[in-house]
Amino acid sequence: MRIVSGIQPTGNLHLGNYLGAIRNWVRMQDEWSAQGGECLYFLADLHAISMPHVPAELAANTREMVAALVSCGIDPDRSILFNQAQVPQHAELQWLLNGTARMGWLNRMTQWKDKAGKNREGASVALYTYPVLQAADVLLYQATHVPVGEDQKQHLELARDIAQKFNNDFASEEKPVFTLPDPIIPPEAARIMSLRDGTAKMSKSDPSDMSRINLTDDADAIMAKVKKAKTDPEPLPSEKAGLEGRPEAANLVGIYAAMAGTSAEAVLADFGGKGFGAFKPALGELLVERLAPMAARYRELRADGEALDAILAKGALKARALAVPTLNATYAALGLVRG
Ligand code: TYM
Repeated sequence: MRIVSGIQPTGNLHLGNYLGAIRNWVRMQDEWSAQGGECLYFLADLHAISMPHVPAELAANTREMVAALVSCGIDPDRSILFNQAQVPQHAELQWLLNGTARMGWLNRMTQWKDKAGKNREGASVALYTYPVLQAADVLLYQATHVPVGEDQKQHLELARDIAQKFNNDFASEEKPVFTLPDPIIPPEAARIMSLRDGTAKMSKSDPSDMSRINLTDDADAIMAKVKKAKTDPEPLPSEKAGLEGRPEAANLVGIYAAMAGTSAEAVLADFGGKGFGAFKPALGELLVERLAPMAARYRELRADGEALDAILAKGALKARALAVPTLNATYAALGLVRG
């Protein structure tokens, strides 16, 4: 039983990352490490260079993301926390898997289509082969479970397809090289949407900071963002079915439910019939109460760059040791001679 997941260090951790993925990372660390399971969490800095970026910002964002993850509850003594760039086996395995991944599979990836947009000729090759690196990230460690948000499901299915084809083509049924990983997607917060548009996911790449709650936002910023969040003029319904066709209302109720650890039905039992004038301050206060301790811890940790680098170096050492056996088996299965 081994849990592996990653996040790109491209700016602040936001509520979508937290509720969609990181909270599950912490939960799994707490539950599984006590039973001898291993959790590997990494910063996908190699993925971050698939889009135009400023090198100095990537370095700063990488350290900030380590501080953010630790402040959310990732414990570097119980989980292996590292960045891809310090574990060269990720890039090595990606190359080996490029022989198995099919162009047609990559052409169907919705993230590739979204991010490349109309200018495919001008997109980087890294953006296109991004999902093969993601497959290498999890297959390298024989991951059994991968906690992610809904938007990463397709990439995980691709990782399974690559693993299956590789095993079929190059391994015996009794001794497969790769484990097929299962995605773990939270039921209540699989997809947190933008505060400005209930049909677009909350994302780091949205140019408007008002579209997302960052884990580093202070209380005033959180209250202001919730107050300005787009809504419709109707009061909240008392049944979940009444949220249909009301994406902004559904999103805010979903955030409240996920944050309070309850269901949308329970939130509507309390707020059904009430307008947003009553609901928004309650949501804002709940967010402030839950996020403030993390934000405070983050500010403390961020100040000590050396300590953050030491966490990554230590994590990378452990990750490399776990990665080597699978990488060796992959070279051998492909008939590559290595002396
Ligand atoms: P990234 O950095 O975009 O997001 C990190 C995690 O946050 C989840 N997430 C969301 N969940 C719910 N609602 C949202 N609005 C929202 N926005 C982001 C993502 O699903 C993800 O779980 N390609 C990955 C990083 C990666 C990875 C991996 C993940 C690289 N290799 C291997 C798992 C396994 C990415 O860009 O996530």
